[in-house]
Parts: sequence; C-alpha cells; structure tokens
Amino acid sequence: MFHDPDLMPFTPRARPSLRVAAFNQIENWPAETYREAHATMRGVFPLLAPTLLIADPTLIEEALVARAEAFERDRFQTRALTNDVNRASLFFAEGADWRWQRRAAAPAFRHDNLLALVPTFARCGADLAKEWRRANDGAVRDVAPEMSRLTFDIILRAVLGAGATRLDERRFLEALAPSLASVGWRFLYARIGLPEAVPYPGSRRVARSIAWLHDATKELIAHRRQEAGESKDILALLLSAQDPETGRVMSDDELLSNLYTFMVAGHETSATTLAWALWLIAKDQATQERLRAEVSAVVGAREIGAQDIEKLGFARQVLNEAMRLFPPAIGVGRAPREDMTLGPLRLRAGQLLIVASFCVHRHEKLWDEPHGFDPERFSPERAKARHRCAFLPFGAGPRICIGMNFAMIEMIVLLASLVRDFRFHTTPGHRMMLGTNLTLRSRTGLPLAITPL
Ligand code: HEM
Repeated sequence: MFHDPDLMPFTPRARPSLRVAAFNQIENWPAETYREAHATMRGVFPLLAPTLLIADPTLIEEALVARAEAFERDRFQTRALTNDVNRASLFFAEGADWRWQRRAAAPAFRHDNLLALVPTFARCGADLAKEWRRANDGAVRDVAPEMSRLTFDIILRAVLGAGATRLDERRFLEALAPSLASVGWRFLYARIGLPEAVPYPGSRRVARSIAWLHDATKELIAHRRQEAGESKDILALLLSAQDPETGRVMSDDELLSNLYTFMVAGHETSATTLAWALWLIAKDQATQERLRAEVSAVVGAREIGAQDIEKLGFARQVLNEAMRLFPPAIGVGRAPREDMTLGPLRLRAGQLLIVASFCVHRHEKLWDEPHGFDPERFSPERAKARHRCAFLPFGAGPRICIGMNFAMIEMIVLLASLVRDFRFHTTPGHRMMLGTNLTLRSRTGLPLAITPL
C-alpha cells in the first residue's frame, strides 16, 4: 500500500462554497458521503433545493440498474454539458430515441472490432515514444496534455479512418479546451437558475470555439458523404446504421452530435486515466517496476498485439486503481421521472440525485485505507468478491459507458508500451490540486521527469 498526502489533496468542506463549486465541486460534497449510505448537500444559496448524494452500492444498483427506467439524466448536468455540437447525441437521448441510437452505435464497440484496433493503439504509442526519445534524458513533461494528444490521435483514427488527416488536430484541441473548462461554471449556472446569456469568465471565447467545432465536425461528415469507397471506421458504421423495425437512419444532426461526442468523450476520459496512472506509478516506483516486469515477460521487445491484452493483468489492475482514486467522471447524475422512493429515501420528480462515484471509491465501509494506492485491490479474486456497484468508473446499468472496452484495451496497450520504453519520476516541489471540468484533472498539471530506457 502506497501513501502520499497528494492522493487526497483536500478536506471536504463543512459548508459548500461558491468559489469551490466552479473549480472542484467534490470539495463541497459533505464528509458523510465517505462514511454513510447517502448525504445531503445544502445548496450554496439557502433557497436552492438540496442535492442528494448516494454512496451505497445497493442503493446505486437500484437507481442505475434495477430501476433505471424510473430515472432520466438530470437537467443540470445536461445543461452544463450540452452545446450546439452534441445536443442530438446518444449521450443525451432518452427513451425510444436512446434505445435506437445505442443499438445503432453498438457494432462499432463489438469486441472483435476493438481488438482490430490494437495495432492502431500500438502505433500511436510508438509515435509518441519516438518524439519523447528525441528529447533529453529526464526531460520534464506535463503528461496530462501529452496523453490528451495521444488519445485524440487514436480516437480520430478509430472514428474517421483515413479521413483523420482532414482535421486540424491541434486547432480542434485548442478550441475544445475553453469549452471543457466552462463546464464548472455552466453547472453552477444551471443549479442556481441563471440564464445562459449571463456572461461568466471566458464565455465569449467558449461561444466562438463551439461555433468552430461545429463547422469543423460538419465538414468531416460532408467530406465523407462525397467520398466513394469502403471505410470500416466508426463514422462509416454510424452512416450505415438503420433500425431494422422502422428503417430509421441517423439524421445529419444525430451524426454530427455522435461524431463529436465520440471524439470528445472518447479521448478526454482515457487521457486523464493514463495521466493519473503514470503519475501514481511515478510516485510508487515498486509498482512501476512490477508493471515493467510484466510487460517484459508477456511482450518482450515486439509490438503489443491483441493476443497480449488478457495477459497484461497487472496493467489492468493499475488502471483500475488509478480510476478508483481519480475517476474521470466524479459522479453520475440522475433525476426521478416521478415522485418515488429509493430504499429509505423519498425523492421528488426532477430532484437532483448524484451517484457520488468519487466518494464510493473512497468509502470507509467499502475499502481498507481508502486513500492509499494499491493495485492489488483489483486482483481477480478480490475484485470478484466486491459488490458490482462499489467500483463504477464507467457507470452501471443500461447507460453504462458504451466505450468502456474500447478505453480499457486502448489504455492497457498505451500504459504497457510507455512503461516498457520509459522510466517516470515525479518532480520535486510540485503540489497537485484537483479540478473538475468534464473530467477530474489536476489544476496544476502532472509534470513528470521522463527517461528513455
Ligand atoms: C476511461 C475512459 C472512460 C470513462 C471513465 C468513461 C465514463 C463514462 C461514464 C461514467 C458514463 C455513464 C454516464 C451515465 O450513466 O450517466 C459514460 C457514458 C458514455 N461514454 Fe464513456 N467513458 C470512457 C471512455 C469512453 C469512450 C472511449 C467513448 C467512445 C469512444 C465513450 C463514450 C460514451 C458515451 C457515448 C456514453 C453515453 C452512453 C449512453 O448514455 O448510453 N466513453 N462514460
């Protein structure tokens, strides 16, 4: 078990603060959420309806799995996350509309299609390694943006195939940054009922960026429609998807929104997980060595292939432990469709209910020494003995992340190949400060000294 004060860098606040709400909402989640089955967070403003946080796996299973139909996505999260480029996507769809979109996208995430992507994952990792090798020994890099660049490169290839070269990657990521950074503000506005038109820091820049992202994504689809030939990427599967019962195909708006959602949700989350995993093993050198020994025994010096994924069990454990401590999605928001009861709780229609994944993952009753880093918690025997909703980085139930297996395979390949080729060390004097926008990140970056092996 590895301990370090940075692994829990804040104390839950006794009273919620408005300032904190815009940067790192979890500091406002009450301390009981880490000890009890549920907790209530009074609003930052006294008139605001309180937020209910749940952290008990049985209650969570009831809400997300057994009675999933009784809930919808909460309107605050939806307002904070939607914009003109993603409004019509699978992520925000409900009812019959959601069911058809989910079916239409499913073939792209079939296991055989994912394993066929392993060479793409490996080659993108190798390209980054080449770039890192050209730098000096021990060069310090912030691995958070480095991993974003890497996983963005990958998702573009998976989604657009050869068409990936059409997109100005750097410009896309630059345009995306202000929009992701605005999520905290937008969530706060939604919570306190302020209209979108009221400016917040950077809001004009966000509007300009969204307009650019919209046009850039639309152009990708227009190009593809003009092209002849057989592509096997995710966009091709979306274009050819048809509901067997109704004959429905995706509208231009749905295509635009889903393409954009896959490009954004499909890279930012894996990037933060990888960055956290590298930072954790830079702190815990013994785990780093053990991981390197596994890769060397399973793969040796050749390129990682589809046949290696199942054998890289310790890499999977390290990634799971990284997502336990730093889940990219800090929680899952829901609202009951009608007044109802959930276990001992009475819920009103439309009330905000948060499955507090960050707290579930560090709950005193579920984990020994919850703030310590120990990938052995995810050994197959120990993982099997655990409630399935005690660890839920990808959510649970019918709306569980559609990209879960894509992300796991991708992250195993990248973590394994980076650890085989480089040694990672932390940099003296750096203090990590958590921030939440779309994903859980470090506001002070994750700078690591990287030495080629
Ligand atoms: C480490 C990586 C990832 C994490 C931690 C993650 C996390 C999540 C979570 C927690 C949800 C559930 C939200 C809810 O129930 O309300 C979700 C849904 C979703 N994710 Fe992921 N995700 C990851 C990677 C990906 C990838 C690679 C893609 C696509 C290529 C993707 C696309 C989606 C979509 C489209 C949904 C909505 C599914 C639906 O509503 O039916 N995610 N993700």
